[in-house]
Amino acid sequence: MQIKNIKLHSVSKQLLKVVFAFYFSITIIITLIHFTIEYYHTKENINNELKMVSQTFMQSIQGALWNFDMIQVKSITSGALQLPSVLSIKIFDKNTNQTIYNIQKPNFDLSSQGVFSYSQELYHTTLKNETVYVGTIQYFSNHNIVIERVKLSFFIILFNSILKSLILTILFIWAFNKYLTKPLEKITNDIKNIDLHHLKNHKTISVDTTKKDELTFLSIAFNDMLKNFDEKLNIIQETNKHLIESEKMAALGGMVAGISHEINTPVGIALTGITYLQEQTINIKKLYEEENMSEEDFLHYLDDANTLNNSIQINLQKAASLINSFKKVAVDQSSNEERKINLKEYIEEIILSLHSKIKKTNISIVIDIEDNILLTTKPGAISQIITNLIANSLTHGFENQQSGEIKITAKLEENNLHLRYQDDGKGISKDVEHKIFNPFFTTNRANGGSGLGMSIVFNLVTTVLSGEIDLQSELHKGIIFDIIIPIQKG
Ligand SMILES: Nc1ncnc2c1ncn2[C@@H]1O[C@H](COP(=O)(O)OP(=O)(O)OP(=O)(O)O)[C@@H](O)[C@H]1O
Ligand SMILES: [Mg+2]
Repeated sequence: MQIKNIKLHSVSKQLLKVVFAFYFSITIIITLIHFTIEYYHTKENINNELKMVSQTFMQSIQGALWNFDMIQVKSITSGALQLPSVLSIKIFDKNTNQTIYNIQKPNFDLSSQGVFSYSQELYHTTLKNETVYVGTIQYFSNHNIVIERVKLSFFIILFNSILKSLILTILFIWAFNKYLTKPLEKITNDIKNIDLHHLKNHKTISVDTTKKDELTFLSIAFNDMLKNFDEKLNIIQETNKHLIESEKMAALGGMVAGISHEINTPVGIALTGITYLQEQTINIKKLYEEENMSEEDFLHYLDDANTLNNSIQINLQKAASLINSFKKVAVDQSSNEERKINLKEYIEEIILSLHSKIKKTNISIVIDIEDNILLTTKPGAISQIITNLIANSLTHGFENQQSGEIKITAKLEENNLHLRYQDDGKGISKDVEHKIFNPFFTTNRANGGSGLGMSIVFNLVTTVLSGEIDLQSELHKGIIFDIIIPIQKG
């Protein structure tokens, strides 16, 4: 997963979103509550105003009504109507409860919404000190008056909320940026720039030790982990080197055992021959000294000596050639130096050095390479590759097979050598195919397989010989390795 391919959902942005969604909802609710309280409070005030107006004019209206002086009533109520909060005044008859007087500001509609009123019963006290009910007066106002009054407060509340939110937003964004986004970005960049292969020469995450926050601890913990990782990686690399080295030594050891076995036969034959020749020489010498030697004895001795000589020479030559090829292959395997070789002869020498292993089986090895391919290359690598491939064919490919064929072909193609190794053994599954070059991958751990063989082959082809290796395989249909190596001809 690569960071650059992912659309980043910054933690600080998400936090800001959550915090502000919450903050704004709360602010809106509080502002609405504030508005409502302000509205009802102002309405209450206007109601109190109506009450005060009513009480102020009560005496004079009571008197005017008692005297049926409607001109006086009109004059008083017109005065009261001048007050901004009073929109209409009504007076009801004492007996019928019918409206007997009504005065209102233009444009006021009593049936419209939001109208509220204050009513007061009016009484007249007679000379005999009797109290007589003369009617009811009602003062009207409406919510437009309330809204007109609270407009300014509303505006102040709104402005206050917006200003607070704005300052808070800016502060939050600044703080998140400074304390979260920027340090996180820096840590991410530092992590992206870490080269796991060169941890030693590379700085890890830089840590500001003056700060003691979670991010500092995170960086320190990450750096500790990297250090740990680096140490473990070194151990693994060391172990890997040792394993590869011991694999090489084991291969050489195997070869030594095979070669000594091979040399044993011709040297044995030569030794028997020479012992026999010595006995014959002692015998003939004795006959000669006793003057008992016939011409026939002598001719017989010469004949034997000749045959034995021939056999000893052939066998010693065979041993010498075995030692020679062993020497070349062994030296190449351990040195990895460049040298000019004839590819066909060299591969035949490798096969010869593996002869003791191969001859126990019914596996034939076909080499289809032109005689005249001369290359300057690192023969040690080629010998190790072929040795490992043959060892794998014998242990895995022909595991339960009595007979089979290994074919090694090579062709020159422009500046490359195309070496093809194939066996007609049991092949491998797709699953094994994907892992075959991984170090330590083996299906044969139970029998001591280390799983290094193919990873060594891969390394030799790609790094030592700067080439490429590819494989084709199907279960039960054998395996083909195509190795392409750039070459200097001749
Ligand atoms: N010619 C082949 N035919 C079938 N399977 C093979 C062949 N060559 C390799 N494999 C499979 O690939 C695996 C890995 O091979 P590799 O040489 O890396 O390890 P190994 O042979 O198991 O162990 P080691 O080589 O260390 O003894 C083997 O375990 C085997 O399953
Ligand atoms: Mg192997």
